[in-house]
Parts: sequence; C-alpha cells; structure tokens
Amino acid sequence: MANFTVKRVESAPIEGQKPGTSGLRKKVKVFTQPHYLHNFVQSTFNALSAEKVKGSTLVVSGDGRYYSKDAIQIIIKMAAANGVKSVWVGQNGLLSTPAVSAVVRERVGADGSKANGAFILTASHNPGGPNEDFGIKYNMGNGGPAPEGITDQIYENTKTIKEYFLAEGLPDVDISSIGISKFSGPDGQFDVDVFDSASDYVKLMKSIFDFESMKKLIASPQFSFCYDALHGVAGAYAGRIFVEELGATESSLLNCVPKEDFGGGHPDPNLTYAKELVSRMGLGKNPDSNPPEFGAAADGDADRNMVLGKRFFVTPSDSVAIIAANAVESIPYFSSGLKGVARSMPTSAALDVVAKSLNLKFFEVPTGWKFFGNLMDAGLCSVCGEESFGTGSDHIREKDGIWAVLAWLSILAYKNKDNLNGGNLVTVEDIVKQHWAKFGRHYYTRYDYENVDAGAAKELMAHLVKLQASLSDVNTTIKGIRSDVANVASADEFEYKDPVDGSISKNQGIRYLFEDGSRLVFRLSGTGSEGATIRLYIEQYEKDSSKTGRDSQDALAPLVEVALKLSKMQEYTGRSAPTVIT
Ligand code: G6P
Ligand code: ZN
Repeated sequence: MANFTVKRVESAPIEGQKPGTSGLRKKVKVFTQPHYLHNFVQSTFNALSAEKVKGSTLVVSGDGRYYSKDAIQIIIKMAAANGVKSVWVGQNGLLSTPAVSAVVRERVGADGSKANGAFILTASHNPGGPNEDFGIKYNMGNGGPAPEGITDQIYENTKTIKEYFLAEGLPDVDISSIGISKFSGPDGQFDVDVFDSASDYVKLMKSIFDFESMKKLIASPQFSFCYDALHGVAGAYAGRIFVEELGATESSLLNCVPKEDFGGGHPDPNLTYAKELVSRMGLGKNPDSNPPEFGAAADGDADRNMVLGKRFFVTPSDSVAIIAANAVESIPYFSSGLKGVARSMPTSAALDVVAKSLNLKFFEVPTGWKFFGNLMDAGLCSVCGEESFGTGSDHIREKDGIWAVLAWLSILAYKNKDNLNGGNLVTVEDIVKQHWAKFGRHYYTRYDYENVDAGAAKELMAHLVKLQASLSDVNTTIKGIRSDVANVASADEFEYKDPVDGSISKNQGIRYLFEDGSRLVFRLSGTGSEGATIRLYIEQYEKDSSKTGRDSQDALAPLVEVALKLSKMQEYTGRSAPTVIT
C-alpha cells in the first residue's frame, strides 16, 4: 500500500473560469495551462466545504475525450489530498453523463458506501482532440448538476484562489483494469475503485423498460435498427444493450468505438453532424436506398439523442410529447401514471397540448437540465425534454440518450405487439403522424449562428429587447415584412421562478408570442467555447389535421423572414445564413 503526503501548491486566480450552462468548457490548450484544472477542482472542493469533502466518495469519469486520462489522475491526487475517502472511476475513465447520474444514485461500494458527488469530464457535443474542447462539471448527491448557488461559489473561489492540494507519493492509478487500489494518507485509507462502465446503467434500464417486448420487436423480420454513437461514450453501452440484451446485430452499430477525438467529427446528434446515420436512414444528400425502420444517435457524453424513422426525422420537441403521450401504456416504470411533465422554454409547445389533454402538471423552465432536477426531487415531474435533443425522466437527474431510444423502441414494440408476425408495421412516421392528427402539429425549426462576435450578439439581443417596448410598432414593422403573419400578442424576456426553492432566473431568452400561438425566441447559447452563438427558435401551431403534412421549412418561411428582418440578423452578425439549421 503506497503512502502519500499532502503537498500545498501555491497558485493564483486564472481568468475566465465561470461555469456555463453545463460546467466549464474550454479548449484543451486552455485546460492544460499550469494550474488551470487544479484551480477549478480546488475551487469546487472549497465551494462544497472541507467537512463535506473529507471522508466522501466521489465519482470521476467522462466521455473519454482527449485530456480525460490526465485529468482523472490529477483529480484523483487532489481528491486524496483534500481528504476524499474513495474515488470511483469507470473503466478507462468512461462513464456517460446519464451513467454517472445513475452511479451516484444507485451504486453501492464494496464497503457499503454511496457516492456524494461526481466530476464529469466532458464538453458534451463539442468536438474533442488536442485542438478542440475539454470540459468539467460537478454533480451533486442527487445525481444532478450543481445548482447555481454552488457554481457561483466555485466561480467566486476561482477569483481568489491562493493554493491547492496534491497527494505527493501517490502513483498514477491504472484505470484500465477493474479493481480497487488502496493507499494510505494523513486522513487514513484512500481507495480508487475502477468498475465496469455499463453494469449499473444496464441494470437501471432493465428495471425501467420491458426488455422482452423490445427483443421481440428487434427480432421481427419487419423491423430493422441502426444506432450511431458518433464515436462518443454511448459506444460503451450500445453493444451491451442493443446487441447483447436486445439481440440487434453488430452491423446495426455505427461508430460505436469511443475515441478521444470522436474520429475527428462533431459528436452532436442532429441532421447536420450525424451525416452517416442521416444517409443510412434515407435522408440528406446521399440517401441510402434501403434504410432501416429505426435509427438513433447520441452525442459525445450520450445524454443527447436524435430519433429517426425510415426517411423521417422526429423533432426533439415532438419526441418528448410523443413519449409522454405513450409512456403509461408502453413503459412499465410509468405504469401507475406520470407525476407531471416539463419542457424548456424554447422547446415547442407540443408537450403542453399533451399535458392539457391528459390533465398532467406542466412546467416551462429555462434552458439547462438542472431546472428539471428540482421538480423531479419534489415529485412533480416524470418526463421532460428540450429542443436541444435532450429527453429524459426522473429515473436519474440528467437527460439520457439511450433511455430515449429505449422509450421509442418500447412505444414501437407496444404499438406493434399484435402484428409482428406478418402484419403491417406501425412505423415511426405513422406514430408521429397519428400524434399530429390527434394533438395538432407544432412546426418547428432552430437557426444557429455559431462563433459570432460576442459584442455584435449582445447588440442584437439589446435591439430585440428595446423593440419590445412598443408592440404596436413591432406589429407595424412585421406587417411591412409579411402581411400574412399574425400579430404579436405579447413579448418579454423569459424569467423563471422555481416552484420548489423559489429561486429566480432572469434573462432566459427573448420571446415574441403571436396571436395564433406562433413563437419566435432568441437566445444566446450558454455552452459554446468561442465567441457567441445566437439561437433563433421558430414555431407555428397547426390544429387542422389536413394541414399538418407540410414541409416544415416551407410552412415556417414567413415567420423566418419576419425573424431575420425584425432582428436585423445580417446587419448585426454579417451572416447571410445560419451555421446550422435543425
Ligand atoms: C446542454 C444542457 C442542456 C441545454 C443545452 C443548451 O446540453 O445540458 O440542458 O439545453 O446545453 O445549450 P445552449 O448552447 O443552447 O445553451
Ligand atoms: Zn451531452
């Protein structure tokens, strides 16, 4: 058993360590500056307070992106020096963000201990590699992201930090093999427990879904399946769940070997970046001629998902609404009913219509998963989702990419339970179209302007806020742009009062709400690592079932024109087109 001592290292504040929507995300080159990661980790320990850190158990792992392995060794040494008792690491440092949440909530250590929190090493959907992004965020004992009170305190600490602590004499721990390594330091024994990345998560999924019914669906000759992990950490789960448990073929897995640089790609499951899957599903520029019935993808840390049918894209806003509408019948975990549902503000109102019709509690929260966590901890919400390809439930406190795929497979299995022996398969497209016929359709699109000059982005937002002072002027301007667009009924900056802890979050996006239920929302992204990203969300509600089959870009063209001209997008940003349209 190696002994270590505690070394105090003098340090000084480094600018710009303010955590964004989901932790601190910066270029690898920024993270590898001397003291950079150390300062942030020590500031986190200090924010949690020394008494809470001493004797605690901490999970440290992530999506396996470049610099993760070094970061894990640094955090282990700092944890030991700060009196942490046990550090749990997924094999090879791999744990998806939802798996971290599951491990914190469910796993019991060899000595009967539970985890008190977790450092998740990921920059989610941002590219990885020596010239790309790294990230770190802290999750609490409920398995969810630290609340703003803590992240603000971490940031304050980074501005005054003078020292951090490192275990001296503690060797690098082999994180490639499963097992417990024991060390001894001034506070007594210190353990590093390397465990299988998938077991706890697979066990949780099996307690939620009916795996037998999904197995039958996958075995049926009418059904075909394909899953793309975009070389992210979802690959560490896909084989275990889709192939070993559910019987899909190996060839149904695309890019399922986790890579430090995600194979050079952008690990974001949308129509732009998941190109290979999009082609395979018969969409995009080079469509395959014989696509499978169902396809899905995940982002780098496997909390996001994209769901596709044969030649058919399911918008994330529709996806959460459809899961909520079908959960009780199709998913055993929800068989006794939903406690409530929630969506983020820019997500379309498709979920609102379901909530109303099923008489469910409904919440509209700011962007960022942490807001759902409070509702779930208070027993107010079972299913929730965001337009940004995040869907999940109260089984954990993060969104869950693989859970969303299993939810869709469960719905497909339920709808097809009587026709898997030769009947006509109810497809993903059928399910979505039947949903629109019943609840109406929310045409929806998002325009992203990435890496815009930060000053210009702020000016555009300020211009939009200023316009809100006079609705009659706004309506005159709009009528001059497109006479076929409805009047704006109200406009504001979204503000949220958390019904559980009463906290208030201001400036959460600029909304223009139209008389016919259409909406324009403008927001600055909280997850970028360079410049500013402006997001424009455009939505229009169509109740008439004879009009729900249009191409969404066509249907939304008038509103898009209004949004671009009203905001003076090109004038402020110099961009004539968005970087990404979803
Ligand atoms: C992360 C969060 C999501 C959030 C998204 C927004 O993925 O986990 O909850 O919706 O960021 O990103 P944005 O870039 O729009 O701030
Ligand atoms: Zn993610």
